[in-house]
Amino acid sequence: MKIIDRTIRHIIVSAFIIVCGFMLYPTLSRHFPDLCTCNCGMDSEGNLWFSQRYNSSAHVLLNRKNSAVDFDTFWWWRSLQNESNVADYTEVVEVLFAHFPDKLHYWDSSPDRCRSCAVVGNSGNMIRSRYGALIDSNDFIIRLNEGPTVGYEQDVGSITTHRIIYPESAVDMEDQTHLVLLPFKILDLQWLISVFTTKHIDQTYRHVRPSIKADKNKVMIVHPAFIKYVYERWLQSEGRYPSTGFISIIFALHICDEVSVFGFGPTHDDAWHHYFDDSMFSSKDGPHPGVFERSLITELHQKQIIMMYKGW
Ligand code: C5P
Repeated sequence: MKIIDRTIRHIIVSAFIIVCGFMLYPTLSRHFPDLCTCNCGMDSEGNLWFSQRYNSSAHVLLNRKNSAVDFDTFWWWRSLQNESNVADYTEVVEVLFAHFPDKLHYWDSSPDRCRSCAVVGNSGNMIRSRYGALIDSNDFIIRLNEGPTVGYEQDVGSITTHRIIYPESAVDMEDQTHLVLLPFKILDLQWLISVFTTKHIDQTYRHVRPSIKADKNKVMIVHPAFIKYVYERWLQSEGRYPSTGFISIIFALHICDEVSVFGFGPTHDDAWHHYFDDSMFSSKDGPHPGVFERSLITELHQKQIIMMYKGW
């Protein structure tokens, strides 16, 4: 009798574990596959919080096939920088992918994949951090805007696999680096084409570089709908639109299995400057909801979805 009781108990417990595993697998497996060292998992409250925000089918990077955007997204996106350009989006996209790789990037998520990524922001808290080797040990190292490495290697590392920029923040790239354009208007897409062809666009809402050094076969473009998704699902429509830094963290959550974040936030004495110059970064002014973004980044860290390194 005892043996039958135990067997039945075994069957019930095993069935329970299998059903739970099945229910949680789609969400957890993206971020905590077996091979990842951060196989820490979230409690059910954390899992609910995450699944209310994270959309695994959001288009992250643009290609010809997925380029269509609905009316609302299109007008929201074009209003971000008050674009009055009359160019036709579909035609520009056609030309774009006549020049740059028209690929389905990073749809390779699987339980066996453990891609570690470092997102490196430009905060002054990187100075004296000595994070360089740790940053460089990741599979992908995503840097933002001008954030330099030369002269700062010990603190920020020396490898850049991806650099997320927009025309007004563009810099030269190393040969191994993917230029990832974050477009806020049709003119930004036209600028990218111009950079690798005619080099005639040198003005958006301010002067921009008409030419930069980068490998055109490594160019990637963030999908306009991804920016709206980050704004609505993650920022709950706070502020006017998300910052490059915040978009980059969510970008990493979508293409990586383990995300470490460096160079975000103030220094230990509450200064908000860059590690490479004295220009002050404001988390309060401007179009981005800096305070809310910061609370979300802290929450992602507390829920063990990302690892945040606070620096010095
Ligand atoms: O200043 P910049 O926009 O180039 O910085 C890139 C990103 O780094 C910002 O969008 C922000 O998220 C982050 N940053 C920060 N604290 C700073 C400077 C930059 O969090 N002091």
